[in-house]
Amino acid sequence: MILQKLLPALCLTAATIAGTAQAKKPHAGPDLKSLPWMNSSLNPDQRADLVLKELTLDEKIQLVHGIGWGPLREGDPVPEGNNGGAGEVLGIPRLGIPDINQADSAVGVRMSAPQSRYSTLLPSVLGATASWDPDAAHLYGDVIGRELRAQGYNQSIGGGVDLARDPRNGRLFEYPGEDPVLAGTTVGHLIMGVQQNHIMGDIKHYAFNDQETGRTVVDVHLDRKAARESDLLAFEIGIRIGHPASVMCSYNKYEGDWTCENDWLLNHVLKGNWKYLGFVVSDWEATHSTVKAAKAGLDMQMPGEEHFGAPLKQAVQSGEVPQARLDDMVHRILRSLIASGAVDHPPAPRFVVDPFKGRDDAQHIAEESIVLLKNTNNILPLSPSVRSIAVIGAHADAGVMSGGGSAQVDAPGGNAVHPGQSTKWGQAVYFPSAPLRYIREHAPSAKVDFNDGADPAAAANFAKSADVAIVFADQYMSEGGDAPTLALPNRQDDLIAAVAKANPHTVVVLITGNPVSMPWVDQVSGIMEAWYPGIAGGQAITNILFGAVNPSGKLPITFAKSEADLPHATIFGLTPTAGKGGLPEHWVAQEKKVSFPADYNEGVRFGYKWFDSEKKQPLFAFGHGLSYTTYTYSGLTADASARTATFTVRNTGKVAGTETAQLYIQLPSASGENFRRLVAWQRVSLNPGESKEVTLTVDPLFVSVFDTASDNWKILSGDYIVSAGSSSRDLPLTAKVTVQ
Ligand code: BGC
Repeated sequence: MILQKLLPALCLTAATIAGTAQAKKPHAGPDLKSLPWMNSSLNPDQRADLVLKELTLDEKIQLVHGIGWGPLREGDPVPEGNNGGAGEVLGIPRLGIPDINQADSAVGVRMSAPQSRYSTLLPSVLGATASWDPDAAHLYGDVIGRELRAQGYNQSIGGGVDLARDPRNGRLFEYPGEDPVLAGTTVGHLIMGVQQNHIMGDIKHYAFNDQETGRTVVDVHLDRKAARESDLLAFEIGIRIGHPASVMCSYNKYEGDWTCENDWLLNHVLKGNWKYLGFVVSDWEATHSTVKAAKAGLDMQMPGEEHFGAPLKQAVQSGEVPQARLDDMVHRILRSLIASGAVDHPPAPRFVVDPFKGRDDAQHIAEESIVLLKNTNNILPLSPSVRSIAVIGAHADAGVMSGGGSAQVDAPGGNAVHPGQSTKWGQAVYFPSAPLRYIREHAPSAKVDFNDGADPAAAANFAKSADVAIVFADQYMSEGGDAPTLALPNRQDDLIAAVAKANPHTVVVLITGNPVSMPWVDQVSGIMEAWYPGIAGGQAITNILFGAVNPSGKLPITFAKSEADLPHATIFGLTPTAGKGGLPEHWVAQEKKVSFPADYNEGVRFGYKWFDSEKKQPLFAFGHGLSYTTYTYSGLTADASARTATFTVRNTGKVAGTETAQLYIQLPSASGENFRRLVAWQRVSLNPGESKEVTLTVDPLFVSVFDTASDNWKILSGDYIVSAGSSSRDLPLTAKVTVQ
């Protein structure tokens, strides 16, 4: 597969860059500030047009493609000013147009260690989405934006918003879950946070890159109505809120055409219906043609020049690609550079980020993200008088796991469980925030011991006489492969079952990229989903275990009991070759050469919409998450003309907490929808005994249906059933409104 092949090259590149890159010398010419397009009172389009007029054909071609791992791997000289990221597009110094230095930054800035730099590892995007907190998403983006800037980059190539159609997708930890409204809203705010640092933001992978198995050849089939109401709706909302500088088209095909040369996706929907003004950049090596891609709306090939280098120049000269189309590509790129502030406020590389601020922010987000799934007899929070705790598994003595692939952030000091070893693609990296250490800090007078959990029987014996057993279980996931099943890997189900049998006070802490099945669910007292919790994961987890923080996270994705309950019992194209090539057994890297279809005949019905319409019982429902207090809901009224719903939430327990109140609507029967849609939510902080009235406003888009005949959204007349409550399956309040 592409990135695996490139890995040795990548390391070489990093070393080369570290060795030779120098800061770019200032341009010795006229005062750039006095150039007409540097007049910031003009709008970005006017300024971009003024630059465009000055450019030669060669300069235009130079701006629509760039270099990256591929070309640099050949041992080419590293351009002056290259910053060591995934890609670079050379600027036009004589006109004050800077190089575009792009860095992967899905969960933190990637590849900082080879440059002797540091980046904050944030919780996974899926985890951060569990906060249901747009402010947390904004902060998430801000951490990324400011650390990119501190490291000399001016473009993030993060912003993944592919929906969790399949809970086994290897990149789910980079994405914001299964619901288009929650996902799009989260990513939109994340992008705003990135871009407030004068960094160009990105949204990816457009579109339907919903599985990693055969990702470069899989051909997705999904009718256009369902596409607009699901995967594309997440992009539409994210773009509307975040206004990202670029959209990255994906590796896969949609209805027979690669997405990076798919006229309907790029020209018609993105640039036509949504009036998107930024540029479309290909995923790495996902450009397949010159004329077709350029005409379909691709604006930048990355990396490489085989399509948008000399062949594009020739196609423009011969008239096969109109000059106006090349000008449009360049205009979009210049406009994004100018609108983001990357031209007026270029990063002044300090090569230093503030690790303390980053860690505090990551911890705050993690503490809002962790979801308490089960808490029988209030086993949590742990009592300060607990005398003994058996801590087991998942290297909890050393650190917490992170997700891999192009989202891998370098761990400070190297991999906490393999210090001194270089990290290979496909190998889990642990960050040094060991839960064991923080458990000991919270319970200084308890006997706290650790067992690695490798032998379930030995772990059970170790756990049996402790007051409480805490089993940590983890699941490594990465770009390039999917989990073939929902099961935890490495016999961890056996471990949990054995410990639970030996000790009735067993709590499971999951550190996973994806939802997992839990055959032991009824045998344990407590279950907490901590996702990949980031650089301060150990503190965040233990603050919740001991009640210093009251959990408030809610699932942004359904946990199924088994694969049999999913729309598709197996992943499209999966062949059972698990464990090949020394890769982890549960993470199946399957690059394929021959195209195969993925028929998303479930349409919009995946995640909770599938479970609700099929009347299946999930293991844990979308929106579910417990607290150390309890809440009641009362008094729902809904006003169709104001598009509002009002109700009261009360904290009926003994401690302060934050509840995410959720609003769902079922559309009139003419919609054909036999499920509810999430339409609005709000985090409500309440002291014990306190009540608050909550008014939620519903965006008309979220209750619209897409009408393919008019190629537009419409609102159906009829009865709408409005429900409010604490999860998609716990909705005590219902009201009906009629739209004429
Ligand atoms: C990934 C992208 C990433 C790019 C550059 C690709 O393989 O799919 O998400 O941004 O590589 O690293």
